[in-house]
Amino acid sequence: MSPNAAEATAVAHPNIALIKYWGKADAVRNIPAVGSLSITLDGLTTTTRLRFDPDLGADRFVLGGRRAPEMEARVTSCLDLLRQRADVETRALVESDNDFPTAAGLASSASGFAALVVAADRALRTGIATADLADLARQASGSAARSLFGGFVEVSLTAGARGVMPRTKQVLEPSAWPLGVVVAVTDTGPKDVGSTEGMVRTERTSPYYSAWVDSSGADLAEARAAVERLDFEALADISELSCLKMHAVMLSARPGLVYWNGATVECIRRIRELRADGVGVFFTIDAGPQVKAVCLPEAQNRVATELGAVPGVGRIIESGLGDGARIVEAVG
Ligand code: PMV
Repeated sequence: MSPNAAEATAVAHPNIALIKYWGKADAVRNIPAVGSLSITLDGLTTTTRLRFDPDLGADRFVLGGRRAPEMEARVTSCLDLLRQRADVETRALVESDNDFPTAAGLASSASGFAALVVAADRALRTGIATADLADLARQASGSAARSLFGGFVEVSLTAGARGVMPRTKQVLEPSAWPLGVVVAVTDTGPKDVGSTEGMVRTERTSPYYSAWVDSSGADLAEARAAVERLDFEALADISELSCLKMHAVMLSARPGLVYWNGATVECIRRIRELRADGVGVFFTIDAGPQVKAVCLPEAQNRVATELGAVPGVGRIIESGLGDGARIVEAVG
């Protein structure tokens, strides 16, 4: 079997963690220190076209129509995992497009690496099971494993012969509990400190890091149970707790990691007021200043209007829950 001229296009969506991952148990193997639980979106999409080309001496990565050499080492390491399985050396041209701002806390690396492994698996005809593709994507970006699946997705950690190993699986189909997400974009610039550097700094310097790791398993179990019962109030409480705990441990690093801006805080206040008024909404925030408001379907329009009116919110992106990474076109 030759991968010559084999080509595949995959799409994947970002996911948003409700129970957060922050910190690595093993930095070399990129094993997360904590499990996580996320929702996969449908409103934001990464489309990745990959073509193995025997004439290429190295992989080429083009993001949004521009060569992105700073990303090529990570792309190559990820593709190498699949090339090893297929026993081929051929390099690839990878062209990826996001229909949302890149590197601004909207998890473009998650959808990007999820789409990449799915496209490479198809082009190389490796036939790797989805959970195993998730594990390959995880080695490039911890949160990418979750974008292989749709709906509600859990990464759990289990102790094995080679130490702790993460396992990714779907907890609930998107149609089983069709929540909405309103993203309040407060800044579209790239973040100051990337997640890997931020995690290393937090692990090394935060006096609260061990408390974060020790308490996250209970948060994950509570969130999984809330999802299984479709209990929005319970999921809201535990998700906001996980988010605020993650930001507390980030803030307590040295120097402290402050990913929020003024509009981020105003959105939190507004969401809490709405919830106190009986509107089904809660917030979550990642390593960037955007606020993601998770809502019951009937609350989504109101939440979008209210957050759009918060000073400093430049753009509102709305989404439902979507499917996992998948092939949309293949040749060869
Ligand atoms: O996948 P990474 O290495 O970019 O880390 C993602 C970390 C957070 O987005 C802040 C939390 C999470 O679980 O997605």
